[in-house]
Amino acid sequence: MEIEDITLETIAEKMPFFLEYWPFIITGIVCLLAGFVLFKTALESPGEESLPPEPDLLDELDDLEDEMDLEAEETENNEQIVPALPIDLKHIPLSYTKISPEESLKRTEEFFKLMSNRRTVRFFSPEPVPVEIIRNIIMTAGTAPSGAHTEPWTYVLVSDPKMKQKIRDIVENEERINYERRMGDTWVTDLKPLKTDWEKEYLTTAPYLILVFKQMYGFKENGLKKTHYYNEMSVAIAAGILLTAIHNAGLVSLTSTPLNCGPALRVLLDRPSNEKLTLLLPVGYPAEDATVPDLTRKPLEEILVEI
Ligand SMILES: Cc1cc2nc3c(=O)[nH]c(=O)nc-3n(C[C@H](O)[C@H](O)[C@H](O)COP(=O)(O)O)c2cc1C
Repeated sequence: MEIEDITLETIAEKMPFFLEYWPFIITGIVCLLAGFVLFKTALESPGEESLPPEPDLLDELDDLEDEMDLEAEETENNEQIVPALPIDLKHIPLSYTKISPEESLKRTEEFFKLMSNRRTVRFFSPEPVPVEIIRNIIMTAGTAPSGAHTEPWTYVLVSDPKMKQKIRDIVENEERINYERRMGDTWVTDLKPLKTDWEKEYLTTAPYLILVFKQMYGFKENGLKKTHYYNEMSVAIAAGILLTAIHNAGLVSLTSTPLNCGPALRVLLDRPSNEKLTLLLPVGYPAEDATVPDLTRKPLEEILVEI
């Protein structure tokens, strides 16, 4: 007997089902294998959706993740979630005085005139400024709205000359590396017309430095972490009010976001790890010979879309 006959006979004898349905069985096995391979590939290789996000979204994602982690943690730890504000918070009549449209118009014109003179100043006078003025300015910044009224800000006011020098050392050290290595040609070239460089004399000349920290989260009375919703946006709004209050007081400042200095300055100023440095502002009077770049601002037609 030939081998083929033996094989067929054996199969027919032992597995009559296979002999009759073998094309379907083989197709089934092939489909199962293909399905398994496809499934594994989909799990292992990054699809379009798992591509790394744009770098400028990373911070926001970070913040959002923090918020989600916190929520999860609180839900896990708390059978009954306690609100950060008192559950029986009183609601009171709004304190409001209506003014006429004419008065409104006059005020908006005057306020625009005042604010259009605000400039970023890089040359400061060492002339002292009464600290009460700065405290009032910071109190005004503290009137800003914030996500769920979490007030996620801390203002560190530095006037001690030794501390200002330490801050300057940290900032200049990092800024030198930023300008020489980290920022890249395009950024450095974009800054050339503003004549900024790594040297920051104003950090020791200005009578005050205000360092604005955002609190990424806080703590409830029961010790649990408190989510600070939209803390970045809340602190940015407060910073706008701070700058406006500085200008309104007849003082000048320089908005700066010292690159890579945050952790060192946080430690130097003894701030807790839930706080992150967002802005460093020297505040005082301008130097007598202070100059500013001759900039113009976009006209209303370019910044306003009316629908
Ligand atoms: C977020 C932010 C960061 C800034 N960082 C710096 C800085 O590190 N150094 C600096 O000299 N100016 C800095 N500036 C100031 C801008 O250069 C300035 O606002 C801009 O040139 C417009 O000038 P003006 O403020 O006089 O209208 C910063 C401004 C902003 C809003």
